Amino acid sequence: MTRKPLIAGNWKMNLNHLEAIAHVQRLAFSLKEEDFEEVDVLVLPPFTDMRSVQTLIDADRLRIAFGAQDLSDKDNGAYTGQISGVFLSKLGCKYALTGHSERRGINAESSELVMQKTKAALRNNITPIVCVGEPSDIRKNGNHVTYTLDQLEQSLSDLTKEMIKDIAIAYEPVWAIGTGEIATPQDAEQMALEIRNWLVDRTSLTIAQGMRILYGGSVKSSTAAGIMAMPNIDGLLVGGASIDPDEFVGICRYRLAGV
Ligand code: 13P
Repeated sequence: MTRKPLIAGNWKMNLNHLEAIAHVQRLAFSLKEEDFEEVDVLVLPPFTDMRSVQTLIDADRLRIAFGAQDLSDKDNGAYTGQISGVFLSKLGCKYALTGHSERRGINAESSELVMQKTKAALRNNITPIVCVGEPSDIRKNGNHVTYTLDQLEQSLSDLTKEMIKDIAIAYEPVWAIGTGEIATPQDAEQMALEIRNWLVDRTSLTIAQGMRILYGGSVKSSTAAGIMAMPNIDGLLVGGASIDPDEFVGICRYRLAGV
């Protein structure tokens, strides 16, 4: 079973729409056809950048996909400030993060809401990348596997096997996000394997083997290859390093760096 790796850049609240255009142009200039044969490349810009990014991608027929950092659990109506999956889908948005730890933390999003947002993405033909991962105190007391699998269970509890088949999962340990403290390849693989085994139980071997599991947390071009060498890791969700086009291109080309 081959899973094409997905390299995703979560820009978070960085790069305005003019900077976004320049950034995507730099990526498009640097990344070559052979890169896109090896990996799928995804950018997750702020909402105000999205139309500019989409116009550029469409006009130049770029092989870069774009996605949303969040979406509403509702499709339309009186929900001031929220962004509908219907609109995102119409724009050509292919992916959306759900349950990023910054939204679970800063915006107090519950796993129930994460599940509703995941369903909203799916019904609008957007691939949800459901994010899970433990904070540092849980890692220190050794309960990281139970914690992360519980979070996954709660975030997907209403979803059928057929729905789960169409999602990706990102393991992002909170202690590794924006800290420079990356998980070791072995730690990342241990959790990815636990997640894969959970998916086998929840769906089927065939479905679980076809699903992508990403790692995120302080990934750089110098560390990407080691993580990507792990058998159950099928991609990277990159924050800070995705803002620097050279770094992000280096991460997309991890296969050339050697472990
Ligand atoms: P950093 O790569 O900045 O640690 O962020 C990871 C992340 O949160 C990606 O979603």
